[in-house]
Amino acid sequence: MARKLFITGNWKMNLSAEQCTALASKLAGSVEPDWPVAVAVCPPCVYLSVVGAALDGSAIRLGAQNVYCESNGAFTGQISPPMLADIGCDYVIIGHSETRHTIEPHEDDALINRKVLAALAGGLKVILCIGETLDQRKQGQTESILEAQLTAGLANMHSSLAEKITIAYEPVWAIGTGQTATTDQAQQAHAFVRTCLAGQFGLAAANGIRIQYGGSVKPTNAADLLAQPDVDGALVGGASLKADDFLEIIKAGLQNASQTSGTAV
Ligand code: PGA
Repeated sequence: MARKLFITGNWKMNLSAEQCTALASKLAGSVEPDWPVAVAVCPPCVYLSVVGAALDGSAIRLGAQNVYCESNGAFTGQISPPMLADIGCDYVIIGHSETRHTIEPHEDDALINRKVLAALAGGLKVILCIGETLDQRKQGQTESILEAQLTAGLANMHSSLAEKITIAYEPVWAIGTGQTATTDQAQQAHAFVRTCLAGQFGLAAANGIRIQYGGSVKPTNAADLLAQPDVDGALVGGASLKADDFLEIIKAGLQNASQTSGTAV
C-alpha cells in the first residue's frame, strides 16, 4: 500500500504569538494543496488558535504537543482531546521522548496508553513517539525497547483505529543533538517497528501505518532518510522553526514522492 509521506513540525516550547503567526503564514503560503506530502505543525498549546487562524484554508494541518487522558473535569492545568478537536487540531503528539525522559514527572507507558486511547476517542489522530536511549542501544536493547513501547502504548486499541496512528521513531540520542541515525539504522528500526505493528494489528493495518523518523532531521539529511522504504515522513524539531529549512525538508519529501510514484510535483 502506498503511504503518503507525512512531515510534522514540532515547535516545542519556542516562539511568541507573533513569531508563530509569521511562521505559519509563510508555510501556509508555500505548501500547495496538491503536493503529495501531508504536512502538520504542532505549536505550543497557547498558540494553537493563532496558528490555526494563520493556517486556515491551507493544506497544513494543526497538531498539539501533548494532551491529557480525560475529557473534562477537575484536572488543573490539563487540556483534553475534545478541547483540542474543538480548537481545530487534527493531530496530537503523545509519548515524546522529552515527556518520557526530561520533563518531570516522567510519563510512563501506562499513562501514554491512556492518552492514546483518550485522544482517539476524542476524534484526534495520534503521533505516538517511541525510541531507545543511547545506553539501551549500546546494550543491544533497541528492538526490545521499541517493541515494549509499541505494545504498551497501543494496548487495547482496536485495529480499525490503526489508520489514525502515526508512529514516530525518535532515537533519544538523536533528538536535538545534531547526531542523526544513519539511513541504515533508521530503516532497520522502522522495518522492525512495522513487523511489531503487523503482529499487533495484522499486516494490512501495519502496511498502512506511517512511521516517521525524528531526531536532528535537517535539509541536508532529509532526502536520504525519506528515501528509505519504511521511512514514511519526519517529525522535525529544531529545523521546523525556520520556514525555509522546514520547506526544504518538505521538498525533499516531494522529490522522493515523485520518484516513487512518478507524480509530477
Ligand atoms: P530535533 O527534534 O529535530 O530538534 O532533533 C525532533 C523531535 O524532538 O521531535
